[in-house]
Amino acid sequence: MDRIRIRGGNELHGIIPISGAKNAALPLMIASLLTDDTLTLENVPHLADVEQLIRILGNHGADISVNGRRERQGESYARTIHFTSRNIVDTTAPYELVSKMRASFWVIGPLLAREGKARVSLPGGCAIGTRPVDLFIEGLTALGANIEIDGGYINATAPEGGLIGARYVFPKVSVGATHVLMMAATRARGTTVIGNAAREPEVVDLANCLNAMGAKITGAGTSTITIEGVTTLSGARHRVLPDRIETGTYAMAVAMAGGDVVLEGTDASLLETALEAIRRAGAEITPTNNGIRVRRNGGGIKPVDVVTDPFPGFPTDLQAQFMGLMTRSSGISHITETIFENRFMHVQELARLGARISLSGQTAKIEGVGRLKGAPVMATDLRASVSLVIAGLVAEGDTMVSRVYHLDRGFERLEEKLTRCGAEVERVSD
Ligand code: EPZ
Repeated sequence: MDRIRIRGGNELHGIIPISGAKNAALPLMIASLLTDDTLTLENVPHLADVEQLIRILGNHGADISVNGRRERQGESYARTIHFTSRNIVDTTAPYELVSKMRASFWVIGPLLAREGKARVSLPGGCAIGTRPVDLFIEGLTALGANIEIDGGYINATAPEGGLIGARYVFPKVSVGATHVLMMAATRARGTTVIGNAAREPEVVDLANCLNAMGAKITGAGTSTITIEGVTTLSGARHRVLPDRIETGTYAMAVAMAGGDVVLEGTDASLLETALEAIRRAGAEITPTNNGIRVRRNGGGIKPVDVVTDPFPGFPTDLQAQFMGLMTRSSGISHITETIFENRFMHVQELARLGARISLSGQTAKIEGVGRLKGAPVMATDLRASVSLVIAGLVAEGDTMVSRVYHLDRGFERLEEKLTRCGAEVERVSD
């Protein structure tokens, strides 16, 4: 199994191209099931999760062709992928496929809207909390679906004539349930109003793509989304928005290691709260015409407290990385996780590098230390694993991160991007 070796101590200088967002690409790919026409997505990152979803969509009958050529512009590695689901050949999403990635559960929305039925295995995904599906069930039931759980599967059926538009207010903000309800409602009869909707940029990206396919969605990006149902959707061409989590991760890597890096092809407005926290920690962040420039020269890392929250708050997907950064701050910082109850698996691994972190409920107290020392560590989930890479960039000697398959789910060519900026990072295959 592959591992990543990081030899700490180098500053980062250069350009890092930011990929298309994994968490936008996945729901956009799933939206292709809503039409028998071709949905073309540009700027799709080359990631294990994308490959897995390609297999899942293929199982439902999607014909998928990948334009393998790299986009030369900006040295991005993005691919253009065409999805055509002329006929849905199978409305079952089996356990073997869904258990590997939680987002694949989201096919339930389009299958129900288009075929009137779906049998979808209860999901798997990163081990970061219980992650139930009650909000999906409640939301789809509000649109008239009949839902039963049987043998680890959800069997959902739409009423005769299809789903029916309704008003539904989520009791808790959920990105995935917002995606699913929005997709399902595009082809429901009448108007759906979703209250307490997730406001994440990926929800806006999905709504923009669905509208390009002929849907009538307004309000995405606010907490109330209105969807006027239409009978059919057509194909479209859509460019996946930049990955704000990858952007924040590399910004934190530069804040940690020091140096001067341009993150190319991204947009600061996607992650203002996180960038503000990195600024307060001591990095200079300025917009460029096609991205952002991050610098930290001379000064040390200051302690900053953060609390994760749904967008526009500090993203839970950057919590582990920020903790990595705070391990070297000049004082005490606190990080509170409010989204997932078990997203502190990186704490014990960071401690192996010499970090001083104590946990009290949902809050971690991080006492900055003067030095970290390389050690073998284990990735436990996608974002936790990259926090170990960030810490490894300044740890003395070698840090060896195992279970790299977590990283491959969400970071495209991580070692290449960092190495080009002067870091010593290499993949070791046993
Ligand atoms: C999305 O997951 C992201 N995944 C996650 O990124 C991200 O951490 C999360 O949103 C929060 O921002 C993708 O976009 C593919 P939620 P999702 O439903 O949709 C609870 C990464 O590292 N909840 O917004 O699964 C849930 O347990 C991944 O890229 C219910 O209680 O997250 C959590 O506490 C990891 N019932 C909270 O809501 C439900 O039915 C928010 O989860 C659904 C969710």
